Amino acid sequence: MKKTSFLLALCYGMFLVACTSSPDDKATDESNDSTIDQRVENILSTLTLEDKCGEMTQLNLDMVCVGEPYNLEKPNKLDSAKLRKVLVDLKVGSILNQGGQAYSREKWFELINEIQRVATQEKKSKIPVLYGIDAIHGVNYTTGNSLFPQQIGLAATWNTELAYEMGCISAYETRASNIPWTFSPVLDLARDARWPRHWETFGEDPLLASDMGENVIKGYEGDDVSSPYHVASCLKHFLGYSVTLTGKDRTQAWVPERQMREYFLPTFKRAIDAGAKTLMVNSGEMNGIPVHANHEILTTLLRDELGFEGLVVTDWEDIKYLRDRHRVAKDYKEAIKLAIDAGIDMSMVPVDYDFPVLLKELVEEGEIKESRLDESVRRILKLKMQLGLFENPVMNFDDYPDFGSEKHANSALNTARESITLLKNNNQSLPLGKERILLVGPLTNNLNALIGGWGRTWQGVDTSFNNPSKKTIFQAFSESDKLEVVHHETSLNPDFKEIYEAVLKTKGIKTAVICMGEMPYTETVGDIEDMNLPEGQYELVKQISEAVDNLIIVLVEGRPRIISQIEPLADAIVQAYLPGNEGAQAILDIISGEVNPSGKLPYTYPRYASSHSTYDHKTTDLIDPKFGLNAFYPQYEFGHGLSYTEFAYSNLSISSDSISCGDSLTVSVDVKNIGGLAGKEVIQLYVRDEVASITPAVKMLKGYSKIDLSAGETRLVQFNLTCQDLEFVGIEMERITEEGDFNLMVDTLKIPFYLK
Ligand code: GLC
Repeated sequence: MKKTSFLLALCYGMFLVACTSSPDDKATDESNDSTIDQRVENILSTLTLEDKCGEMTQLNLDMVCVGEPYNLEKPNKLDSAKLRKVLVDLKVGSILNQGGQAYSREKWFELINEIQRVATQEKKSKIPVLYGIDAIHGVNYTTGNSLFPQQIGLAATWNTELAYEMGCISAYETRASNIPWTFSPVLDLARDARWPRHWETFGEDPLLASDMGENVIKGYEGDDVSSPYHVASCLKHFLGYSVTLTGKDRTQAWVPERQMREYFLPTFKRAIDAGAKTLMVNSGEMNGIPVHANHEILTTLLRDELGFEGLVVTDWEDIKYLRDRHRVAKDYKEAIKLAIDAGIDMSMVPVDYDFPVLLKELVEEGEIKESRLDESVRRILKLKMQLGLFENPVMNFDDYPDFGSEKHANSALNTARESITLLKNNNQSLPLGKERILLVGPLTNNLNALIGGWGRTWQGVDTSFNNPSKKTIFQAFSESDKLEVVHHETSLNPDFKEIYEAVLKTKGIKTAVICMGEMPYTETVGDIEDMNLPEGQYELVKQISEAVDNLIIVLVEGRPRIISQIEPLADAIVQAYLPGNEGAQAILDIISGEVNPSGKLPYTYPRYASSHSTYDHKTTDLIDPKFGLNAFYPQYEFGHGLSYTEFAYSNLSISSDSISCGDSLTVSVDVKNIGGLAGKEVIQLYVRDEVASITPAVKMLKGYSKIDLSAGETRLVQFNLTCQDLEFVGIEMERITEEGDFNLMVDTLKIPFYLK
């Protein structure tokens, strides 16, 4: 699918920062690769079995610091004896993470410079350490950096240039922290609203998520990951992680091959084809087999079919979990054999010393061939060379003048502004004019809630490492010269007293802005039993709605919690997702009308707690309305988002009423800004296969383009559709096309065509 809105790419090109390459550069330096391969062989030939087992081991920073794992002495500092035991004795090749807190750049350089010194000067092989970190919306574990919206918000911009830009800036600031490898992006799809990592994804649709993932990776890796401004990316969590039966993290998932290939494989395939350097495995089990022990997935599919040649790292402690959680191994040693046989290259152990020792025993006992280890060690050494670690194991602290700069912060602010989605706006309740408002609710004054999990700490709830200059919603609103703010912060589940006091504060006030939703969480900690929000939040809305004329709801949440009982009471509703450090300013800019909202939902917003399906559902999901039941009846549809202006679509046309494979169909539509304000619009092209041998989705997104239109301006927007866009996974599990009738839809316009 090619979009032809080149102007968009051009105008965003001016915003590109930090990147030393454009998204389209491709490293074709094959000679570089063969040199690297030769260098790898030369080093491999000198390594002992212990060296190789060490290279395949990744330990948490805790294992080389003073104190106990998960409970280090503060401030964290290296323990010289532990450091030498890990690097010199065990020859561990990779370290990850932080010691339970964010660090300054100076601290990162202090820690990693010493780690690399010991590794390259005292370890016999002198192989540098590969350091990895979760830098998933900017380098969250480095204080003072630019924290972007979480992936779900980035996806809501429907702007791949912003994805590329976030990748560039995050890579720059990760290297500025002396780290060359990020465990990002998440390429799982958010197809179950209950899932606690919903907000870490790019939403429910394979095309939007693939585009976003590809562009973030291009920003991360550039055209040469040895650059001091680029890092290796890590595709996660391969495969089928986000659709557990319970909607809870790391519980069992059953993913039929056709569903896996139609929905969950495309994002990873696109990223692998884009050259991503590493991949992290799903901690869960798929179809009764833990993915960490699944050769079919990790070797036959990933290596043989998808052609992935990069490094495969486990997720946290997941080899041990083959014994402790999945119970497919009687002991740790058997678990290691299962994982290595399946295709794992590196074990994120990460808090014991046993992995390399047991792995060595398995080789010595003939359970694993040393040649199998050589495969993994080659990939690890190659990545370290591609990253330039042999020449530059550490960065130059002074090479990063733009770290945490206003330029980077503005990029994060711009992304947050473009992510915010106006879900409802009756009677132009928004934007607000110059007026006195009540700002009320549990999330009015909480920066951590705007940042979300993977904040300055893993769960994102610790406030002690926040950038003091970054604002809460209350702080941003108080600085506005348009709004006079009466503030009433409540608990997450406001009680009668809190609500009563809030209502008292509405005296003489016509407008209330209620900031509600979720507090930060990630992974299992974020599991829920009920998609509804705490009852006190609903009661707060009900009581306040009785007391004011204009009720605005601002949602700050990682996943779409149920709002159906209060939605009718709101005059306007804004979805802010998890907008990051600049989120409060972005919310104010939208509420006050400084910025015209342009975000679109990257997921279907459910109306009921136990009834949810995605936009690309099947016809059988449409309960027959003649029985008085609701057909597909979400709170808000995938792709929904309002503007303060209005766009009219007309003249939908196609270059031919039929195409064959090898042709391309040009789809044209006129879009006019018929409102009085300039604004951005996302033109979305959907296709419906009328009849197919596999039940076709009611529609699927096949293209989109975000354009900027001044008041009164009309723009011709065109898409090129090819038969690749009409493929689906057929009976034989192959991607096929079938002759027949199709319809394509843009906005409310529809036009048929035939595939010959
Ligand atoms: C966690 C997460 C994974 C993360 C890794 C390292 O358990 O599942 O996304 O990258 O551990 O922190």
